[in-house]
Parts: sequence; structure tokens; C-alpha cells
Amino acid sequence: MDRDATTDPIVTRIIAIVNQKGGCAKTTTAVNLAGCLALDGARVLVVDLDPQAHASIALGIDPEALDENLYEVLAEEEGAPRLADVIVPAGERLHVAPSGIVLSALEQKLAQERAETRTDRLARAIAALPDPYDYVLVDCPPNVGLLTFNALRAANEVIVPVETSHFALHGVHKLLETIALLAERLRIAPDVRILATLYDGRTRFARETLAEIRTRFGDACFDTVIRNSVKLREAARRGLPVARMAPSSNGAADYAALATEVAAHAPAQAEVPAETRPAAPQPREVVIEYREPGAADVRIAGDFNGWVPDRDVLSSTHQEGETCVWRKVLRLAPGTYEYRYVVDGEWCEDPANPERVATSIGPPNSVLVVR
Ligand SMILES: Nc1ncnc2c1ncn2[C@@H]1O[C@H](COP(=O)(O)OP(=O)(O)OP(=O)(O)O)[C@@H](O)[C@H]1O
Ligand SMILES: [Mg+2]
Repeated sequence: MDRDATTDPIVTRIIAIVNQKGGCAKTTTAVNLAGCLALDGARVLVVDLDPQAHASIALGIDPEALDENLYEVLAEEEGAPRLADVIVPAGERLHVAPSGIVLSALEQKLAQERAETRTDRLARAIAALPDPYDYVLVDCPPNVGLLTFNALRAANEVIVPVETSHFALHGVHKLLETIALLAERLRIAPDVRILATLYDGRTRFARETLAEIRTRFGDACFDTVIRNSVKLREAARRGLPVARMAPSSNGAADYAALATEVAAHAPAQAEVPAETRPAAPQPREVVIEYREPGAADVRIAGDFNGWVPDRDVLSSTHQEGETCVWRKVLRLAPGTYEYRYVVDGEWCEDPANPERVATSIGPPNSVLVVR
């Protein structure tokens, strides 16, 4: 995956691995998906956002032996290190931003800060990396607090591992609702997918749970299912991705399949690989108008402006009789775009556009096709 940095910009795919339920294989997925993506030639960073530091340990790092970790980066005290300063190598093309127990103090430390400046710290730290990665995988702790908020704010994709044993489905809907709510509040639209893990096909219960996951979540599920594999536990203990420790194990095969699926499923805002990218089409001006009465402030956000309301948009208003018309001029290359209006702070579909697309985390987005 070597590139000419001057001609091929890297668009980093940032994937948060989230589930408030403990032990559903978040860390195992972060570490082993990262290991397989790196073996396939990608540059990968694992961000260990869990104070338990299991991902750091599973990648052979001793958190106790480090002077600085993500806590210092995210606390942003004077003279604090940048993210690049705390990253340590964990294999070829594979790096880790390590955690430590001190990370559990971050929420308390930032309690007085405004929500916006508390939750965007990881996003800013990743954006400031001088040498971007192809993938950043963020391993989250088993709760939906400040650290997970930071992960969701930074990520454009979310993987929710769900174990196919016990009563794992309890809580998954609640989690998806929480993610949708957060996404709305943080004004982001991540692509959320479910990964069935810890699967033992010999038990009827696991088969039934898997069938239920597929029925409930449909296309939002990965085709890959991660089977039980003792080699995954052993690899974590040895501090290595399973693909390096036991390349012919079921665990290695399943995470290799997942890596292939992830690489093939780039969400809209991620770029097509350079080799297959056609010559860039020229952008042109596209005008759309919002004319519902009673609005005091109307903005537009979509995948064309990173879902930041009115960023890169020329905005004007004029009166047509009684109605105030909000005109938005966008410069867009031919393609299909998803967007929503933000009307007096509320995110809503374009009432004048019947073209909509379902999202995995909430109400549909409006669709704009530029030919
Ligand atoms: N497919 C698998 N086969 C066998 N063991 C597995 C598998 N996936 C995970 N494990 C083991 O299950 C345990 C929990 O996994 P893991 O630590 O990845 O979960 P987690 O969701 O990160 O937990 P926490 O919420 O505490 O962070 C670990 O001991 C891990 O080695
Ligand atoms: Mg974990």
C-alpha cells in the first residue's frame, strides 16, 4: 500500500469498537483486526482508550513501563505530549497509542470543561498526526462515558461486537439508540455495524442468537462471524496478534476475513484506493433551497462537508412573499451525497426532497445526486 504522498492523499478510516457490555471481544477485535489489516499492507494505529490497557498489553506493551500515555495527550495540560509522541510500534505497519490506569481519572479532570471541548480531544489529536494512518482502530472501555464519547466523535465508523453466548442481545438496541442520540448531539453520522463474536456453532443457543442478530440487524451485520478460538486468548497473553502467533488458527482466519470485509466496505466519506480511483471529476455549483416558514436559522450538513453545518457552503436568504427562502450553494463533484438540514438546532430531512436513504443509527438522510 505504498503511496506517493504528494499525489495520493490518505483518508484515514477511524473505527471505534464500542459496546458497554464487558467481555464481548472489543479488545480482541481491535488488536486482531489491526494485525490483519497491517499484514495486508495498511498502516494501522490502535488507540487504547480503555484504562484497563488490555489492547496495549495484547500488543506486547507494558503500560507500567511507559512515562506517558493517552492520558497526558487528552488532558492537554501545558507542555503535554502530542499523540505522535506517545505512539509505540507493535509490529510492522502496526502502532499503538497506549493507555494506563490513570486514564480513568480523565473524566473527573475535565468535569468543568464545556462538552464540546471535552469530547473532541481524540478527534483533534488524530487530525494533528503528522503522518496519517490508513486505519485508526479505537478500543473503548465497557461503558459509555467521556472516553467512548471521544471515540464516537473521532470515528466515521463503529463496530459493535456482540457475543453469541449468554444474553448478549439485551442492551444492544439500547446501545444503538445511545449511539444514534450521541451522533445527533455530536452532529456526526457514523456507519455502525454489528459483529457476532465468541461463536460456538455446536450449541443451539449460539446458532439461534446468530440467527436473531442477522434477522434484527440485517445488512448492518458483518458476514464474518468470529468463532471461539483458544488461540485468540493465547495470543492476547503472548502480546501478539493471532495472525502472527497462530496464522493457521480459526481465530486468524476469522479476523483475516473480517479485515477483507472491512477493507471492501468503505463508507461514503472514505476514499476509493488510489489505484482504482478515476480522474477527479470537476466540482460544480449546486443550489438547493429550504422554504418552510417559521425557521430562524437553517444550515446544511452532509458527507460533502464532513457533517459540519454550513461548512464550505455559501448561504443566503431572500423573501418570497411571506416566506423566507434559505439558499445554499454547494460546490460538488458529480456523485451521490447524503445530507440533512439543521433547522434551529434540530436535524431534519429536506422536506422538499423525497429521495431518502435509511441510516443504521436513526432517521433517514436526504439524498442529492449531482450528474
Ligand atoms: N473468539 C474468541 N475465542 C476465544 N476467546 C475469546 C474470543 N474473543 C475474545 N476472547 C476472550 O474473551 C475475553 C474477553 O475478550 P475481550 O477482552 O476482547 O473483551 P472486551 O469486550 O474488550 O472486554 P472489556 O469490556 O473488559 O474491555 C478475553 O479473555 C479474550 O481473550
Ligand atoms: Mg477490552
